[in-house]
Amino acid sequence: MTCRTLLTGATGTLGTALRPRLLEAGHDVLAASRSPPDHGDDDLEWVAMDLADGTGLRDAVADADVVVHAASAPRGDSEAIDVRGTERLLEAAADAGVSNFVYVSIVGIDDVPYSYYEHKLAAERAVEASAVRSTIIRITMFHEFVAELLGTVSRLPVWPLPTGIRLQPIDVGEAADAVVGRATPEPAGRVPDIGGPAVRTVGDLARTYRDARGLRRPIVRLPIPGKTAAGFRAGGATCPDRAVGTVTWDEWLAERFD
Ligand SMILES: NC(=O)c1ccc[n+]([C@@H]2O[C@H](COP(=O)([O-])OP(=O)(O)OC[C@H]3O[C@@H](n4cnc5c(N)ncnc54)[C@H](OP(=O)(O)O)[C@@H]3O)[C@@H](O)[C@H]2O)c1
Repeated sequence: MTCRTLLTGATGTLGTALRPRLLEAGHDVLAASRSPPDHGDDDLEWVAMDLADGTGLRDAVADADVVVHAASAPRGDSEAIDVRGTERLLEAAADAGVSNFVYVSIVGIDDVPYSYYEHKLAAERAVEASAVRSTIIRITMFHEFVAELLGTVSRLPVWPLPTGIRLQPIDVGEAADAVVGRATPEPAGRVPDIGGPAVRTVGDLARTYRDARGLRRPIVRLPIPGKTAAGFRAGGATCPDRAVGTVTWDEWLAERFD
């Protein structure tokens, strides 16, 4: 049986990796965005949907067997989008009789005190409390996201960075493969975390990034006080026992900058 799957966040970093993989796995994909592209892929349908006010949400979910919820607002109003928006989507999914609501979450959201993570945790709790049966999959930071963060200092003559923070970045394609593996009509609850191949410090990641880009910039430790940075330094956003990804940071950089 073909699975009719609503993919939220279909234009995002993860959503872009999920689209071809869901199609390849045989899903009939309905891709959601606030502003769907005029000329999308021929093999999937797009729908306009806004989690902030619920526009288009009920129509989007009406025929779905599976929802893969990858929409999020890490740099926006995550309380409105990630918490209230997810609650709205869950309600619509329950009314539509969705079999499995797959929620994409982040490793360490209960270990690192950070407002976006608190909102992700509140969304997870809403998923668990909902009438819809669900799967929650937590993933570590994507290589893309780490590169984006390092890109913000790359023009500076000296790079001030919280060098002691420990991360475990993963290739987004491998993260997407793990999500597709869970996008079935059978809900699985909270499943084991998905992490990149190695835990590395920001200092080490930054040196490798700098060298891959052929830049010559000194990296200096930026002391960041407070519980959030302490949580990241303690490795709160890592899962060394679940180093599932195989594409290393060095390999990922070589692919982009060689
Ligand atoms: N980035 C990471 O390193 C990382 C690691 C682990 C887990 N995750 C989780 O993976 C998921 C995807 O992350 P990502 O990095 O791919 O995110 P992203 O690139 O920031 O993309 C966010 C997506 O959310 C959609 N969106 C934003 N506001 C919306 C709204 N009001 N209504 C409907 N859609 C909205 C955007 O679509 P439009 O702008 O087209 O509407 C976009 O497709 C998130 O749940 C995130 O927490 C991310």
